[in-house]
Amino acid sequence: MGMEVRPASPATGAEILGADIGAGLDDEEFAIVRAALDRHGVIVLRGQTLTPEKQVAFTRRFGEPEFNFNAARFGIDGSPEIYLISNIVEFGAPIGTRRAGETWHTDMSYAERPAGATMLYAVEVPVLHGLALGDTCFANAAAAWDALPPAMQEEIEGLRGVFDFRGRKRSSPVSAEDIAQYPPVEHPIVRTHPRTGRKSLYIARDDCTGIVGKDEETSRGLIEALADHIVRTDFIYQHRWQVGDVVVWDNCTVQHRAIQDYDLPQRRLLWRTTIKGDIPV
Ligand code: SIN
Repeated sequence: MGMEVRPASPATGAEILGADIGAGLDDEEFAIVRAALDRHGVIVLRGQTLTPEKQVAFTRRFGEPEFNFNAARFGIDGSPEIYLISNIVEFGAPIGTRRAGETWHTDMSYAERPAGATMLYAVEVPVLHGLALGDTCFANAAAAWDALPPAMQEEIEGLRGVFDFRGRKRSSPVSAEDIAQYPPVEHPIVRTHPRTGRKSLYIARDDCTGIVGKDEETSRGLIEALADHIVRTDFIYQHRWQVGDVVVWDNCTVQHRAIQDYDLPQRRLLWRTTIKGDIPV
């Protein structure tokens, strides 16, 4: 059966039909997956059955895996590239990060080389009265850039933001070593995609703590105005999870946030891998 790419919403995201990751994709099939991610920012492959090894192998097709600072605590034995996002508690201890990514962000913007792409595989999805909970929302920051008035684009292009690991309240405890590993870093607030050349806004309300060369009040005003602009309804795709979904997103093109509208006994378990990215330009 051939593969088909169907836009998931007018703003962003696409569903790829006819791809069996577990069986392995040949180079031609993977090229379709890669092109869909570049074009749509988020891809969804439903009905997959993965082992940790198969997820890591699929992750490697996109690039070198990145090791998340949470993996030491919530990793999978034998597959350190995967860490668990979950509200499940076993023997009195959480098995994963409970409230990961609650606010709008793009992964590892606090690092000199932020994550290129992120992959989640849904193992358990919370359901209440037949309705799946715990959706993940994606906002297209490239569409947000395109929609800015030219005068605004001219004003902000070339500005650099300060991104600080300590800016966002984290859902899991953070060690002094984690903080020391990620001192504040500057990135362009309008970045160019390394593969497509498309520009996107690169700024987030919590992670971005200042704009280089601007006073605090001006910085805050600009950060908040642009952060609000990125997450306008017209730029959003809201993903409703099903067990077996694999979702991959491009951290240059989209921002995301997880909706925390569920609690035990509704269980949520996602396996997460990340792919190394480039220094933003
Ligand atoms: C994240 O990676 O930010 C979490 C996404 C989710 O749990 O839906």
